[in-house]
Amino acid sequence: MTPWPPDRPVLVTGASGFLGEHLCRHLLAGGVPVVGTYLSRPVTLPRADAIPLDLADAGAVRRLFRDLRPAAVAHCAAMAGTTECERHPEAARAAILEATTHVAAAAAEFTPQAPVLSVSTDLVFDGTAAPYAPGDEAKPVLVYGSLKWAAERPVRALAHGIVARAALMYGSPMSFKSGFLGWMREALAAGRPLELFEDEYRCPVWVEDVCVAVTALLVQGRPGLWHAGGPERLSRFEIGRRVCRAFGFDEGLLVARRLAESPAPTPRPPDVAMDSSALWTAVGRQPVDLTTGLRLVREQEQRRQAP
Ligand SMILES: NC(=O)c1ccc[n+]([C@@H]2O[C@H](COP(=O)([O-])OP(=O)(O)OC[C@H]3O[C@@H](n4cnc5c(N)ncnc54)[C@H](OP(=O)(O)O)[C@@H]3O)[C@@H](O)[C@H]2O)c1
Repeated sequence: MTPWPPDRPVLVTGASGFLGEHLCRHLLAGGVPVVGTYLSRPVTLPRADAIPLDLADAGAVRRLFRDLRPAAVAHCAAMAGTTECERHPEAARAAILEATTHVAAAAAEFTPQAPVLSVSTDLVFDGTAAPYAPGDEAKPVLVYGSLKWAAERPVRALAHGIVARAALMYGSPMSFKSGFLGWMREALAAGRPLELFEDEYRCPVWVEDVCVAVTALLVQGRPGLWHAGGPERLSRFEIGRRVCRAFGFDEGLLVARRLAESPAPTPRPPDVAMDSSALWTAVGRQPVDLTTGLRLVREQEQRRQAP
């Protein structure tokens, strides 16, 4: 049961993306009307419209809010690849900072009472002082993290603005995107060695847990800043080991690397583990650990394949 008028949909930006499509399907399964947006990949949603929208186009965003008057907004669209953002900082600025600024401005103008949740990232931190609580100082080092941090401000300035900083998300593959688990499984299934840092730490979180949390924050209309990470702090290499065990891949394909060996010009934050306890307490749910989450992903996939 949601507090919103049943004739007004929840707007989900980035519905063709990994989180966005998961969230649309989660909301639709709960009977919530949804309108999703995409940029270049026309996603098909069950019993819901998906419409093209370039969020960098302020006029188009304004027109959508004026016509749709969404009951709530989950802003999941972004240029979400760190390497792509480093290579194309201007395009990243448009897809992250300008896009979010346009969403916040349109929401303030046309739907000032609607909760607006924007998804941010653990990479707003430089990774030298983990674990991070929501009140800790952000110090991004990558273009992606800097833009995501800057994009938090216009949303937090809204009366009903919510920012959820997600950790590394994993889950079943969607129509076009499958997150880091997708590329890991693809490489391992093809027998390709996988180089993973053993000194880079994250708190991987099951995307279904994030969908539950995002929905609850929107339903409760809880403004503010939240950390949405999983319960374990794991190195990339350990994540790879768990994936091998869950899906029966050869652990011998994993190659341990150190961040110091990275050829990238900007060093990656070594440890962006987050303290997400406030969120899970507010939501009334404990997020699953990686081993359990991977088992749930496998079971979901088996159910989908069952005749
Ligand atoms: N994946 C993670 O582990 C992770 C971790 C922390 C935070 N996040 C954040 O979570 C959110 C979702 O990430 P994700 O992994 O689901 O991303 P994703 O799979 O790469 O999807 C990105 C989505 O944004 C859309 N998009 C990109 N530029 C756009 C623009 N200018 N106008 C309108 N739509 C645009 C894409 O549309 P098309 O595909 O149709 O072009 C796609 O639907 C992002 O805010 C990301 O920064 C992700």
